[in-house]
Amino acid sequence: MMHYHSYEDLIKNNLTWAEEKLQQDPGYFQQLAAGQKPPFLFIGCSDSRMPLNSFTKTEPGELFIHRNVANQVSLTDMNLLAVLEYAVEALGVQHIVICGHYCCGGVEAAYRGTATGVVESWVNPIRELYLQNKQELDQIPNETERLNRLAEYNVLAQVRNICKTSVMHRAFKSGKYPKVHGWVLDIKSGHIIDLPLPLQEWKELGLVPTTI
Ligand code: CO
Repeated sequence: MMHYHSYEDLIKNNLTWAEEKLQQDPGYFQQLAAGQKPPFLFIGCSDSRMPLNSFTKTEPGELFIHRNVANQVSLTDMNLLAVLEYAVEALGVQHIVICGHYCCGGVEAAYRGTATGVVESWVNPIRELYLQNKQELDQIPNETERLNRLAEYNVLAQVRNICKTSVMHRAFKSGKYPKVHGWVLDIKSGHIIDLPLPLQEWKELGLVPTTI
């Protein structure tokens, strides 16, 4: 059974955590406060089972993070675009990781057409993705596997979208650009699956430079 902390626990835990950090390294917080130079930009799902730092065993200062429902990269999302621009141009991140996951509620709602309200509009690109690949996806007899495959397609579509942003265009032109990656977290095993990207196809389409 899942153990939930109380609200008061959170404040208490924070004190213990800060003390532990200081015991390990008295200069820890001074160093953190001095600035950030994270090597990774992470774009992940808002799902509470996706604590990106936990499952990569990374610490504060290592990941620059943007999260939203079903890890979408929308070319009209100012929030995402500002994060991306700052990460690439000011912080100079070396890697951009789009990280989705299996058992994603956003993907499932899009697949079933059950999302309502703002979420319905938000996950509509995944609904479109499903409809575009319906013939192939519906051939997968097991529905969980079908949803998993759609979650993978969603990640690949979002990596593709990242490459279409003006921020990445500028970076590609300059010749100094971060490496892009598409991951899915298999919640049932806790393992990351590093998806192969169709880079050859993207090169031919002119989406990414041939040097990538
Ligand atoms: Co999700």
